[in-house]
Amino acid sequence: MKERENFGSRFAVIMAMAGSAIGLGNIWRFPYMVGEYGGGAFIIVYVIAGIVLALPIFLSEAIIGRRSRSNTFGAMRKLAPGSRWKWLGLLIAVTPMLLLSYYSVVGGWAVEYLFKSLAFEFTTSSPGEISSMFQTFTSNGWMSVIMHTIFLAIVSIIIAGGVKKGIEVFSNITMPVLFVMIVIIAVYSVMLPGARAGVDYLLRPDFSKINLSVITAAMGQSFYSLSLGVGTILIYSSYVRKDENLLVSGVGTAVFDLFFAILAGVAVMPAVFAAGIAPGAGPGLVFETLPYIFSKMSGEVSWLSGLIAIIFFLSILVAALSSAISIMEACVAYFCEEQNMSRRQATVLVFAILWVLGVFCALSFGPLKGVVFWGRNIFDLMDGLCSNILMPLGGLLFSLFVGWKMSSSDVRDEFTNGGTLKFNSAIFSVVLFLIRFVAPVTIILIYITNILV
Ligand code: ALA
Repeated sequence: MKERENFGSRFAVIMAMAGSAIGLGNIWRFPYMVGEYGGGAFIIVYVIAGIVLALPIFLSEAIIGRRSRSNTFGAMRKLAPGSRWKWLGLLIAVTPMLLLSYYSVVGGWAVEYLFKSLAFEFTTSSPGEISSMFQTFTSNGWMSVIMHTIFLAIVSIIIAGGVKKGIEVFSNITMPVLFVMIVIIAVYSVMLPGARAGVDYLLRPDFSKINLSVITAAMGQSFYSLSLGVGTILIYSSYVRKDENLLVSGVGTAVFDLFFAILAGVAVMPAVFAAGIAPGAGPGLVFETLPYIFSKMSGEVSWLSGLIAIIFFLSILVAALSSAISIMEACVAYFCEEQNMSRRQATVLVFAILWVLGVFCALSFGPLKGVVFWGRNIFDLMDGLCSNILMPLGGLLFSLFVGWKMSSSDVRDEFTNGGTLKFNSAIFSVVLFLIRFVAPVTIILIYITNILV
């Protein structure tokens, strides 16, 4: 029986979990949603969504992971022996594979853009060249394939290093650096002339914009941003020591994630407004609008905007890597523990599977553009399947498993560290109520709203 590794400290647990949470979702998705959906009012809805939906699911995954000390499939097999739950566990074990196959393609775009910024391409090209840059790059699918390969190789090398020497070392070093980098960009951004309008757009509360679809969007964002329903929190929690406080890890990660998302918004939106550009949605904001801004801002101090561009794309790459590492760990742990492979063999196998799937996603903007199912190319199909169907399904199953399948004394035992955490004991009933009723009902409502709206 192989010895299971643990994270070495509470700092390491929070850094690793924050690394899993902080990703592309914080940098491009959150700022746009906040601006569009009511500024400060959206942030209030987002925080409430975090408490009623994301936190209970986070805790469900954490309880299953640490109780079982296993991967998703093994966890269900161990905690509900002889039942069909293990097949649901297997279904959830497939989600991180699909998610990472296209996430890695976007990670590859970050690698390409870091190279471009290191070559000072954004400050030396004309605005016309900049606006067509993203289109030219993605439509040549093979360049995307090369970058996807580089990104996935970096993730695999870190994963092959193991929990302590790979994941823990990476997140302990990069998370604080990422934080400093995003603060530097935020300060630069708010000091630009005309930046004030961007801060207002981001933070001024407008309660008239809040409606059912905005509430659903806030819930979906908190789900995506905390990487829930994929088994990443489950697998990381399986490496958390028995004396660690799961509630503190959950709240710590959620607060870190929210704080980072707001900082990212302050880094991005003031610059967008300072450049006189209407804020756009999705990946376009990061890979099309911002390079254009870097070129526009270059003026007399081109070295400074060139440097900011490097820091910005390095931040995106680090954020994407730390999330991708947690997703890949969920896949590798399955092969190590269920198929008895060594970590190195499992990493090579997972790399190969993800590489092939990712190639189809990368080529779906170029040579495979014409391959469309239900109006979506392969990349968009994977994204829709994971974000709208599989991740909420995973969250639903985790909350039902903890709320209704596990005995409530086992759940209490895990949540209160065998009754030693008095504060956790006092709030246990509230948490169990959220896990049993509020989280599953909310996810079902999200499904219904997604179908109807
Ligand atoms: N939580 C990850 C992100 O925000 C998936 O990108």
